[in-house]
Amino acid sequence: LMRIGVLASGRGSNLQALIEAWKLGELNGELVAVGSDHEEALALKRAEEAGIPHGAFPLSRFSSRQEQEKAILTWLREQKVEILVLAGFMRVLSKEFLQDIQIPVLNIHPSLLPSFQGLHAQRQALDYGVKISGCTVHFVDEGLDSGPIIAQEAVPVLPGDTEDSLSARILEAEHRLYPEAVGWVAGGRIKRNGRIVVKL
Ligand code: GAR
Repeated sequence: LMRIGVLASGRGSNLQALIEAWKLGELNGELVAVGSDHEEALALKRAEEAGIPHGAFPLSRFSSRQEQEKAILTWLREQKVEILVLAGFMRVLSKEFLQDIQIPVLNIHPSLLPSFQGLHAQRQALDYGVKISGCTVHFVDEGLDSGPIIAQEAVPVLPGDTEDSLSARILEAEHRLYPEAVGWVAGGRIKRNGRIVVKL
């Protein structure tokens, strides 16, 4: 089984979906580390309850972002993490971190990329007036939400939607899509040809 690490900044509902899939044996891997840049993140409590080793790496404890990332990387290596999954991790990882880590890094984003990159993707979709949005699981590269796409799920934008109602509808899709896509990667069931990712 592949050893999967997760980084999460907050609520951790995607982490919870991964934990549930893991417990059902649906992940082709095991969750072995949960790290956060916020000591108070609910994600850390969820890890604790699931018996997963977890660590807090708040910036305040380090002299720089570089030192913070180094500590995270060292810890992930100690836990022998083979796939890194970002689940609501609200910091952009540096080019150096991504070059050094040498394992696949996945992210989930609450829009159909390449539309609405960056923060407040659901707000951006509402403001633009699109009628369909959704979520995207992708490999992380050095850009902002720009890496090769592994999976997407569309959801409708409905008349009267607010940022909260659209976010909730997208989040339901996230909770289905992320465990499935992580399972494909952990199970070696995808092939990558440059930016094109194909499920085998
Ligand atoms: C999710 O909607 C995720 O797609 C989004 O943050 C939320 C985290 O929720 N991520 C981003 O916007 C990344 N740019 P969670 O903590 O409950 O999983």
